[in-house]
Amino acid sequence: MEEKIIIPGAESPEKKKKILSCIQPSGIPTLGNYLGALKNWKTLSDDFDSAFAVADLHAITVRQDPQKLRKQIMEVFALLLAIGLDPEKSIIFIQSHVPAHAQLAWVLNCYTQFGEMSRMTQFKDKSQSHADNVNVGLFSYPVLMAADILLYQADLVPVGADQKQHLEIARDIANRFNGIYGKTFTIPDPYIGKQGARVMSLQDPTKKMSKSDPNPKSYVSVFDTPETIMKKIRSAVTDSEGGVYYGEGKDGVNNLMGIYSCCTGLDYEQIANEFQGKGYGDFKNAVGEAVVEELRPVRERYDMYMKDQAYLKEMAAKGAATASRIADRTLQKAMKKCGFVLP
Ligand code: TYM
Repeated sequence: MEEKIIIPGAESPEKKKKILSCIQPSGIPTLGNYLGALKNWKTLSDDFDSAFAVADLHAITVRQDPQKLRKQIMEVFALLLAIGLDPEKSIIFIQSHVPAHAQLAWVLNCYTQFGEMSRMTQFKDKSQSHADNVNVGLFSYPVLMAADILLYQADLVPVGADQKQHLEIARDIANRFNGIYGKTFTIPDPYIGKQGARVMSLQDPTKKMSKSDPNPKSYVSVFDTPETIMKKIRSAVTDSEGGVYYGEGKDGVNNLMGIYSCCTGLDYEQIANEFQGKGYGDFKNAVGEAVVEELRPVRERYDMYMKDQAYLKEMAAKGAATASRIADRTLQKAMKKCGFVLP
């Protein structure tokens, strides 16, 4: 599958391409979510017709505490505004507020093979880590994700590298449906940033940084205080060799270089030059400070939005109304093709 190279501004103004992406409210988002996805959403939203959602339906594939989930959904919604997405320009909504997602997911379930779902690495991983609750929703999770994307006829889906396999299946499902009934869905391409696509755990840099990691030192949360961020980055695992450069067997340093690169715009060579002759202590301080500065405005705007719950609710309602209009149109088109009698 080709990853698209985007030239912002190169799209014709009359027919902007569409992007859609979602984030689960299953915990406080991490620096990995931010650098791998959210930061790109903001940049791309300037040049594309865009829709972004809090994927709350996806979150219950793992058992959630209802009170916590309710809180986290609004926190993540506020975060979408805090990263700079503009509700006048982008459709920003909560997935469960748009029933068409669950409806199209059902239809697409019937065009997806059991074998295809069984091969999904995330399903295999999660059914191990949640062995007491290997539910059918967890199994068909990628179909719901395909419905999210296909409802908005998205050309491009900005995600981290861990979602690539889910994007492939969304394309397969769309191609299959189009093959049977004629062009119904746009075939989406993933947009995976060059840097930040896979931010790794600070404690085990061979593993993805994840909000569900039981060790909080392994991730920076987007709402960590500057002191906590500095502490976590300073305690990040590196190696005993001491040189700041990108190389094989230097997973910890490579990861910090990736993070630093995303926050400063410097490439690996420039970073290696900056820290030539310096130790990991100096490097980690610089990375920590860059992360603090990157997240500072996000945190400040987040605090502001969280104080105005009425505004958040109003924006969520507005987003859901616009999203529903688009999603319902696609849902009806797909259902008509299958042979349903429309009401
Ligand atoms: P979620 O909620 O796990 O993560 C949201 C986004 O953050 C990216 N990401 C990372 N990127 C780099 N390094 C990391 N360590 C890292 N951890 C997470 C993810 O790739 C993702 O882009 N299934 C999706 C949510 C979803 C979705 C969709 C995405 C539901 N429907 C439709 C796109 C389109 C998920 O669980 O993301």
